[in-house]
Amino acid sequence: MSDKKSNAMWGGRFADGPDAIMEAINASIDYDKRLASQDIAGSRAHAAMLAQQGIIDANDAEVIREGLLTVLSEIEGGNFEFSAALEDIHMNVEARLKEIIGDAAGRLHTARSRNDQVATDFKLWTRDQMDAAISGIDALIRALIAQAEAGADWVMPGFTHLQTAQPVTWGHHMMAYVEMLGRDMSRFKDARARMNENPLGSAALAGTGFPIDRHMTAAALGFDRPTANSLDAVADRDFALEFLSCASITAMHMSRFAEELVIWSSAQFKFVTLSDRFSTGSSIMPQKKNPDAAELIRAKVGRIFGANVALMMVMKGLPLAYSKDMQEDKEQVFDAADNLMLALAAMTGMVSDMTGNIYNLRAAAASGFSTATDLADWLVREAGMPFRDAHHVTGALVAMAEKKGCDLPDLSLADMKSVHDAITEDVFNVLTVENSVASRTSYGGTAPSQVRAQIARWKEVLK
Ligand code: ARG
Repeated sequence: MSDKKSNAMWGGRFADGPDAIMEAINASIDYDKRLASQDIAGSRAHAAMLAQQGIIDANDAEVIREGLLTVLSEIEGGNFEFSAALEDIHMNVEARLKEIIGDAAGRLHTARSRNDQVATDFKLWTRDQMDAAISGIDALIRALIAQAEAGADWVMPGFTHLQTAQPVTWGHHMMAYVEMLGRDMSRFKDARARMNENPLGSAALAGTGFPIDRHMTAAALGFDRPTANSLDAVADRDFALEFLSCASITAMHMSRFAEELVIWSSAQFKFVTLSDRFSTGSSIMPQKKNPDAAELIRAKVGRIFGANVALMMVMKGLPLAYSKDMQEDKEQVFDAADNLMLALAAMTGMVSDMTGNIYNLRAAAASGFSTATDLADWLVREAGMPFRDAHHVTGALVAMAEKKGCDLPDLSLADMKSVHDAITEDVFNVLTVENSVASRTSYGGTAPSQVRAQIARWKEVLK
């Protein structure tokens, strides 16, 4: 089709074709061709419904439905010539259908508009991505659980402010991310359930006078029901925004873990060894093994949340119903979805392959007076001291150890008694990191017994 001729789909009132710049700003085919299979599924459902309702001839519907399958196989086989003059996937498909089956193709667009069509296509695509995100998260959760099981009782430092706080278990730390990702998964599931209403049949904005059956197309496309307000249905992109916000939170969680892996894999920490498969080298420094995958995952949240903000800004202030601004929705969601899936897969691979360095973890856990709270708790329990006083006494012992350049368990009983007479030999039992973690058996605490209980619970959840 030449640029000069008026558009075959909507050019009836036009004498002239669009300027090349107009075509460039208007066309979405470069990216919305990703909606081809959804577009064709929607059109096939629509044609079947039109025939059932006696709106078009049953034969025409059959020819249309078959012809659409031919178009789909051309597109999937890479034998389809997309045209910017035909703007978008909807008109590219319909124009090709006409070439294949002739004039019957013109009956397909009865009782619908590109406005409900694009809303339907994009919803179907986004719904698939929600499912993909849910299974990607599921895989990552399983990888984390495998790590947690292997190291349910490995002791490592727990941090607050990235300063040594109290010993925790490796399994507990892994399971913390399982909790985060579990919420992410449930957010995607909630969003999927909420968005699963069919816009098709809302037509341009007001519905249609044709006796369509919207329940039929809803069922055919796997929607729970038709949308209840045609104005809202063609103007709504909440489903895309919800996808982006669920994706942003998931990416934010992965970014936190990625940051930990960057720190943990450093020569100064050596808490974890990443596999060669998920590391890279340096072209100048032969010794380097860099955690690039973790760094890139750490960065992905930037573009994914950027997409969320961008679409929010596109949608704000748009009057009802459809406006062409909304064509700017797709690239953001496509890019965010691609990067979310890639980040989930990379994170899953990295977590499955990584090795926790038990000895370094334990050594780090034992340094920095990490069992000081256990000592204070002992004074409360065994010497009947108010916690505030116990805190003070323990602080004095920490200061003494610091001065002597040793850790708390290295102080002699005589040293301890010089600070407070109630202290006995028994206190040394609580100063080991193993006893410290084993004692934290409160529900959700870091004790290996609690970690194993949470692992068992999660395995049930994932069944
Ligand atoms: N390409 C358009 C989009 O993505 C399809 C809907 C266009 N509708 C219209 N009336 N121009 O939003």
